[in-house]
Amino acid sequence: MENKILEIEKEAVEALQTLKDSKDLEEFKNKYLSRNCELTNIKKCLKDLPVEERPKIGALANKVFQELEAKANEKGEEFYKVELDKKLAKEKIDITLPGTYLPYGKVHPLTSTINEVTEIFQHLGFSVISNENSPEVETEYFNFDMLNVPKEHPARDVQDTFYCKNASNVVLRSQTSGAQIHAMKDKKPPIRIISPGRVYRNENISARKNNLFHQIEGLYVDKNVTFAHLKGVLNEFTRLYFGASRPMRFRSSFFPFTEPSVEIDVQCIMCGGKGCATCSGTGWLEILGAGMVDPNVLEGVGIDSNVYSGFAFGMGVERLTMLKYAIDDIRLFFNNDIRFLKQF
Ligand code: DAH
Repeated sequence: MENKILEIEKEAVEALQTLKDSKDLEEFKNKYLSRNCELTNIKKCLKDLPVEERPKIGALANKVFQELEAKANEKGEEFYKVELDKKLAKEKIDITLPGTYLPYGKVHPLTSTINEVTEIFQHLGFSVISNENSPEVETEYFNFDMLNVPKEHPARDVQDTFYCKNASNVVLRSQTSGAQIHAMKDKKPPIRIISPGRVYRNENISARKNNLFHQIEGLYVDKNVTFAHLKGVLNEFTRLYFGASRPMRFRSSFFPFTEPSVEIDVQCIMCGGKGCATCSGTGWLEILGAGMVDPNVLEGVGIDSNVYSGFAFGMGVERLTMLKYAIDDIRLFFNNDIRFLKQF
């Protein structure tokens, strides 16, 4: 047994000299220093030896095992150093090389207008209702009927509104005004909400018109709401969004769902009011429609128009953005040309 151990030792020491790297060393350890190696097995079988031989053989096996282990560890350290040096040399970093440019994203100008307008109205006490409560794919009922739009109104024409092929009463909403109906059906007055979102119209695309654009709807219903409230809130909004020095005006108008109705114009930013192609020579551009909610609309959703009154408004997000930053083509918002978007 003693010879056997010394033989293993000799063989292992020779093998140790031939190792070239840590992978070889791993194999070596498996063969000579693992739980199933010969030395371990010898130690396990000590009980089969005559009692007087056991201590001597046991001690020898242990000594050889420990010596081999120490040598293997020494080799291990040696390999580690060499291999680390090699790795470092290979991964050497040239700190004089120029860095990689990481482009960073920005908020789309239409999104930032929506955020800005939303913030203004939140300060004025309005809360926001989301698309979940007023969907883009809408029924004629919400988009027209409940807003007092007559059956034969030209806005209902397929020339103006996109209808669903398989369900003739389903449309891509042509205005966010349906959000008013959703809001009034969902909760009782007092109601003070705004609702931003996409709308769709069957337009010929041009510098002024796109068949997808954005609106922000607003509604305020309570006891004793008057036209003075409408003027106060929308004046304040225009002042905060465009700045106090930007001329604006109320102009009387007509919408089926409001009576009386108005529109707000702001001075054309392209010509400073002198008149140019953008404002068709008038010096003014319309940014929103508004009015006192028609009693028919209130009664339609079960609100007593003798007790409650309200005002509503709807504004074009693209318009607001174009008139603030002097952008003369609506298509720029949708082409996603990075040179345009970068400027905001
Ligand atoms: N929905 C109208 C449009 O798309 C805008 C509008 C006008 C909304 C008057 C309103 C309103 O809420 O009271 O042209």
